[in-house]
Amino acid sequence: MLGLKLATDPRWAHLAETNIEEILTDHAWCEQKAATNAITIIAGNPEHTELVTELLLLAQEELDHFRMVHDIIKKRGYTLGRERKDSYVNELFKARIKGGNRQQSLVNRLLFSAMIEARSCERFKVLSENIKDEELSKFYYQLMVSEAGHYTTFLGFARKYGEGLDVDKQWKELIEIEGEIIQRYGKSESIHG
Ligand SMILES: [Fe+2]
Ligand SMILES: [Fe+2]
Repeated sequence: MLGLKLATDPRWAHLAETNIEEILTDHAWCEQKAATNAITIIAGNPEHTELVTELLLLAQEELDHFRMVHDIIKKRGYTLGRERKDSYVNELFKARIKGGNRQQSLVNRLLFSAMIEARSCERFKVLSENIKDEELSKFYYQLMVSEAGHYTTFLGFARKYGEGLDVDKQWKELIEIEGEIIQRYGKSESIHG
């Protein structure tokens, strides 16, 4: 799916379902980080009007997701917990393709973002197909569709602004890197855990 190297073991979804409160808090903060990431990219690249326009919409969608998760948290009588660390994303950030000029840095950041969207989309798919909770299953299906759109947006912009660079080769490299990292995950009740 989405060219990812390693598929998530559905057993992870069953584990996630044993601690819905934790998954929801972790998930809420994933959406916050996704919104923040889009705004950071805008701040660093204000001259790319099309990028700014699209990422403003994307950031708003991520904030909508944050609100939707928070609504579910409230509806179920839980309270949003403190921000959770996302070691998968931190590892990917450290291992991502680095360096180069401003153009290359933008491409690196866009590919890194596309990668996280792709994995999140895959995790939402696994959740929607495997958890017994009907409301959450539908919710995760809906989010899967939305994050797939974000993946396409980021990858499309990497190709657009990466003119003259071998973006497809770099994307393949990143898929390899991510495949190594994700092998160590799938064992805890968090979206990327
Ligand atoms: Fe999202
Ligand atoms: Fe997203």
